[in-house]
Amino acid sequence: MGRKIQILDTTLRDGEQAPGYGMNLNEKLEMARQLERLGVDIIEAGFPVSSPEDYEAVQQISRLVKKSVVAGFSRCVQEDIRRTWQAIQEAEKPRIHIFIATSEIHMQYKLKLSPEEVLAKITESVALARSLCADVEFSAEDATRSDRAFLAKALNTAIEAGATVVNIADTVGYITPDEMFRLVQYLKEQLCNPQIPLSVHVHNDLGMGVANTLAAIRAGADQVECTINGIGERAGNVALEEVVMALHTRYDYFQCDTNINTSQIYRTSKLLATVTGVGLPPNKPIVGKNAFAHESGIHQHGVLASPLTYEIMKPEEIGIYQNRMVLGKHSGRHAFVERVAELGYLIPEASLDKAFARFKLLAERKKDITDKDIEAVLGSSAVLGVKETYALKSFVINSGTVISATAVVRLVRDDGEEFEHVARGEGPIDAAFKAIDRIVKMDNKLQNWTIQAVTEGEDALGEAVSKITCNGRPVTGRGLSPDILEASMRSYINAINKAIMLEPQRT
Ligand code: KIV
Ligand code: ZN
Repeated sequence: MGRKIQILDTTLRDGEQAPGYGMNLNEKLEMARQLERLGVDIIEAGFPVSSPEDYEAVQQISRLVKKSVVAGFSRCVQEDIRRTWQAIQEAEKPRIHIFIATSEIHMQYKLKLSPEEVLAKITESVALARSLCADVEFSAEDATRSDRAFLAKALNTAIEAGATVVNIADTVGYITPDEMFRLVQYLKEQLCNPQIPLSVHVHNDLGMGVANTLAAIRAGADQVECTINGIGERAGNVALEEVVMALHTRYDYFQCDTNINTSQIYRTSKLLATVTGVGLPPNKPIVGKNAFAHESGIHQHGVLASPLTYEIMKPEEIGIYQNRMVLGKHSGRHAFVERVAELGYLIPEASLDKAFARFKLLAERKKDITDKDIEAVLGSSAVLGVKETYALKSFVINSGTVISATAVVRLVRDDGEEFEHVARGEGPIDAAFKAIDRIVKMDNKLQNWTIQAVTEGEDALGEAVSKITCNGRPVTGRGLSPDILEASMRSYINAINKAIMLEPQRT
């Protein structure tokens, strides 16, 4: 057994606050459930004072999560700390995570506080947080550009005031691995209580996030903070899957363990891509489409002779199972449920019914249903509890080079009423979306639309993602179908349904 490294996941806080990664309440709850299944030690659920929605999400995640610690993020401001505590107090294991900057640049230009004033704020804030909550993490923002003696003093001030974990943030992704190693070593020597875990939180601006995090671990860091798929401000935070698999694969070198169930990594990554609508580059380490693909003849030959030649990890270790043709249109619910469980998915009963219904629809139209198809069905937003106020009933689209595109779309509302509209557009998608707009009578603006094949073969499933602003609110919808026009309409309607869920007064 190696040294245990605690994993704090901040996908729902640092990750979610980056532009384009917004999630609604249901999506956050689904992500939190999955993060717990993944085995993260601490789920940073959000920044409660930043908005009423964030407060609500942190509170609901606190009620939902049982095994992981749930952390709420807060400035060193008395009001914020109390509000954060209100949001997390029902968690089995609550943590208040407070931060203040310690670098000269931040103290002078942003905080407009002297170093002494910053120390006083640390004392009063940590003490208040500790009077409310038994677990308090203190973070020094921009720690890596701080005077290191002052940084040590700030961390010790926090420890003396009651902090149970202290964290240094490489807020702007500036430090190098050698410097990180020396900084962590230095701080380990300087901390007044060696029992208090030292944590690192790095950003990836210069592409050194993983190297810096691993250097910190080598120097003795006890906790690391990361996000799934490395999402986060600017170039993102360090990717959880990359750090964890580096520790796992090179255990011989690092001699460190985590509590992560690596077979849930792929699924967690997929879920995040699904709910945010942001896909991954094919060459993304660990979870990219090509991470385990061997194209060159020499590599293929080697892998066939022995996977050890070019594979340092097995796809199964992160939960990717070899393509098997499993189910078809005659498969029953039982077989479907078994396969879902084999793939490592734990789906609540209500969502399983929906997923099975979608599987059946797909099986009517697609000959071979592979594991990837099943994953696509499970990952679709319809399974994530989006209320289907409107559903696609039927459509006819005409388009070509010599006619302008027209679409006739029929939608059914959840009260059973059906609506049909015709629209003309610049192309088939434009015409179809305009017809939908006329039916739902909402002010929708398409920001971005993509389509990609998510499975293989001639009858591959297409997954469309529509990012729209609906009555001014940004929402992302996804739709699946072997027909790309249908997938696109489904994604558009899914986005509208999400927007309606966020505005419950609308009918
Ligand atoms: O990047 C950062 O500085 C943070 C905090 C932990 C303060 O997200
Ligand atoms: Zn950060």
